[in-house]
Amino acid sequence: MVRAIEWLDGKLRILDQSRLPQEQVFTDLDDYGDVVRAIKEMKVRGAPAIGVAAAYGIALGASDIETDNKDEFLTELAQVMQTFAASRPTAVNLFQAIRRMQKAAGGDGVAEIKKSLINEAKRIHQEEVTATKQLSQLGAELIKDGFSVLTHCNAGPLATAGYGTALGVIKAAKEQGKKLSAFATETRPLLQGARLTTWELIQEGIPVTLITDSMAGYFMKRGEIDCVIVGADRIAANGYTANKIGTYTLAVLADAHGIPFYVAAPTTTIDLSLTSGYQIPIEERSPEEVTHIRGVPIAPKGIRAANPAFDVTPNNYITAIITEKGIVRSPYAEGLKTIGSRSS
Ligand code: MRU
Repeated sequence: MVRAIEWLDGKLRILDQSRLPQEQVFTDLDDYGDVVRAIKEMKVRGAPAIGVAAAYGIALGASDIETDNKDEFLTELAQVMQTFAASRPTAVNLFQAIRRMQKAAGGDGVAEIKKSLINEAKRIHQEEVTATKQLSQLGAELIKDGFSVLTHCNAGPLATAGYGTALGVIKAAKEQGKKLSAFATETRPLLQGARLTTWELIQEGIPVTLITDSMAGYFMKRGEIDCVIVGADRIAANGYTANKIGTYTLAVLADAHGIPFYVAAPTTTIDLSLTSGYQIPIEERSPEEVTHIRGVPIAPKGIRAANPAFDVTPNNYITAIITEKGIVRSPYAEGLKTIGSRSS
């Protein structure tokens, strides 16, 4: 499996997800502004991967600050962190990573702080690798031999800089010797399902059928889907979950067809500071992502288009939330409070 994010000789190497699957392009970034742009332009994407990339980006930004005066250094560092905080609003992993990096900047001298920021970014990365592996192994118990699993967007190694969440669970179930197949929804507008999930599943040797987002109900009605499993960008204290736009529709459909609906996420995706999922900030992206596909216009020029990037699924549609610390079921407020957020 290729590495989506790697720290190499003081630079951040990313696999440009916007060009997959046609091209595998690795880019070395040594300027924090380029990391911010990579996150905004979704060259790096997926909640845990955004957090990891931002942590390394902050370490890069810190290493470029030239002053030896600690107060001046911290003022400039705060500016760097603010730029990352403004990159994408929904995935809470980003803000958890920024908080961790703020805490890691508590040392005495500038040189010492620069070193501890690099070490903290490496730790954040390693923890996501471990957490996604653990949650995948726990979640695999829910997937029975012969299951056909539907997943949305992309929640594999690319999205996590680790083992994957929703795709991690599917991978781990296969490693347990279960025979599985998958449906991947294309995930308009940016086609993470069509471009990335199918690509990752093929590499894992898991048979996958690509469908358009609007086909899910058809296949559920025909009894061809045994469960739905998705990732998450932020889970509020009440278990309401933000994930890629279209997730809510799939959850309602799964409920209507009596199909289990699972959310898989590391605890860095839990935000206990929000009592309701409807407080989660939803990113609005450019309408051009809807009116165009990879630069090619598909709608009348000037048409009004909406582009909310995420939606919120109420907890009554969620059968279970799979984390590295355990599988949480209703009542979610209680279970999530017990598990907590790794970084809070
Ligand atoms: O806009 P994206 O592609 O960053 O959205 C990603 C998702 O919605 C994923 O499902 C989510 O981040 C989980 S990643 C393990």
